[in-house]
Amino acid sequence: MAKDPGRVLIFDTTLRDGEQSPGASLNLDEKLAIAQQLARLQVDVIEAGFPFASSGDFEAVQRIAAQVGTADGPVICGLARAAAGDIKACAEAVAPAARHRIHTFIATSDIHLEHKLRKSRADVLAITGEMVAYARSLVDDVEFSCEDAGRSDPDFMHQVIEVAIQAGASTINIPDTVGYATPAEFGALIAGINAHVPSIDRAVISVHGHNDLGLAVANFLEAVKNGARQLECTINGIGERAGNASLEELVMALHVRRSYFNPFFGRPAESREPLTGVRTEEITKTSRLVSNLTGMLVQPNKAIVGANAFAHESGIHQDGVLKNRLTYEIVDARTVGLADNRISLGKLSGRSAFRARLQELGYALEGEDLNDAFLRFKELADRKREISDRDLEAIVSEQVQQQGDARFQLRSVQVSCGTGMRPTATVTLDIDNGEERSEAAIGTGPVDAVCQALNRLAQVPNELVEFSVKSVTEGIDAMGEVTIRLRSDGVLYSGHAADTDIVVAAAQAFVNALNRLVAGGGRLPLHPQKAPLPLAETQTV
Ligand code: KIV
Ligand code: ZN
Repeated sequence: MAKDPGRVLIFDTTLRDGEQSPGASLNLDEKLAIAQQLARLQVDVIEAGFPFASSGDFEAVQRIAAQVGTADGPVICGLARAAAGDIKACAEAVAPAARHRIHTFIATSDIHLEHKLRKSRADVLAITGEMVAYARSLVDDVEFSCEDAGRSDPDFMHQVIEVAIQAGASTINIPDTVGYATPAEFGALIAGINAHVPSIDRAVISVHGHNDLGLAVANFLEAVKNGARQLECTINGIGERAGNASLEELVMALHVRRSYFNPFFGRPAESREPLTGVRTEEITKTSRLVSNLTGMLVQPNKAIVGANAFAHESGIHQDGVLKNRLTYEIVDARTVGLADNRISLGKLSGRSAFRARLQELGYALEGEDLNDAFLRFKELADRKREISDRDLEAIVSEQVQQQGDARFQLRSVQVSCGTGMRPTATVTLDIDNGEERSEAAIGTGPVDAVCQALNRLAQVPNELVEFSVKSVTEGIDAMGEVTIRLRSDGVLYSGHAADTDIVVAAAQAFVNALNRLVAGGGRLPLHPQKAPLPLAETQTV
């Protein structure tokens, strides 16, 4: 049996694999806000990024390590290909965290060896030993992944894993990179590793998997039954292609079906001790923050965090639930923090009450950020009688998205539209912190007119590929949240904003997306899995 922490460790890769989703790229403040929320959720490990990709990625991982990687906080991890340059950058970026980890990987399937790495099995064995040892010379905690494990020859993979453990890896990760495995196969793969890798009792077995066939969560649960004790997952299941195994589904499956899983941990079925360290009450809030900041909307019927996950539409169900919730409910909405939407503040609430409530919600805003958010709150309170926690969350997540040094700042929006009129918009932008310019445009509707006017001002070629509006809370005075996705040179950029006036929210969301576009410079970031392994660097520098 592999080294067993006695429960499942949750390794969150929202900021690394999740951020590899098209259009989901995040700025530094957004990454920090998500990392802070992941710490409140009490995940065990945060994979904060791929530091070698760019100076921006390096800085983000380093800031997260410094600010979130406290002694009682999560382990902060960075990803590195099995190449000395990647590993060195990763070690420097994660160093400020009290507990830090390098996660290095190389592919082990023949298809990857032949077509991607162009290396022999002997090469891969040698690189694994040398690069894991190099990583281990820089940090105490090294995780090693056999990329495309799901399609690798198990005998060869067992040899690679043994070499990695001998070189100092204490976590061995088994990724189903292309989401090909079925639950029984994936469980057998983990059982085979436990049975055939001589030193496996010196490492925690971890799993990582993609959802191409919708099987990632099922595969992980089967892996847990066979001894996997770390699960690599993302909030809302975001990630490459069809995404990663979703954190909230895994955590809640292990929570709700504890009595089924307990015996696999050597516990009595009726044990009430949690199987993960996650604070489930933080799940809904984390899901909303990640969706707002990445622009990746959650489908309404998504398990645990979808808008309909706890809604009882049919009359028969409602009747049953009113008599006894257990007739149709297996999860109490409060367990995931859903029912918690206090009416917290109103028009007369002052700055300190506002700050205190934000702090209770886990947001520590100070200085200019606090002043700006307070102004937004006052404006909202003039239009909306009662401000709920969800409204406050919307204000804060918008605050994080609006960067003071961004190229475009929205100053004003005016539209005229209605029956028998051609929708017309006039917008004013502050460009590069100084020059205020206005433009007017006619569109097919008010939002189209606003976007056209903004495009005339910004002069950045783009195509609008997604526009969605949803209300933050119930009621006619609710704020509307707008998410916009733009495409430029084949790269997607998203923007999000909330306001009681959805045309204003649309304008702000469009400006946020434009700012990301100009900051990204139309370049796709270096992809850790698709970029070729630097040849000279697979030897230690
Ligand atoms: O999917 C995958 O194989 C990965 C590895 C880098 C762990 O993301
Ligand atoms: Zn992955």
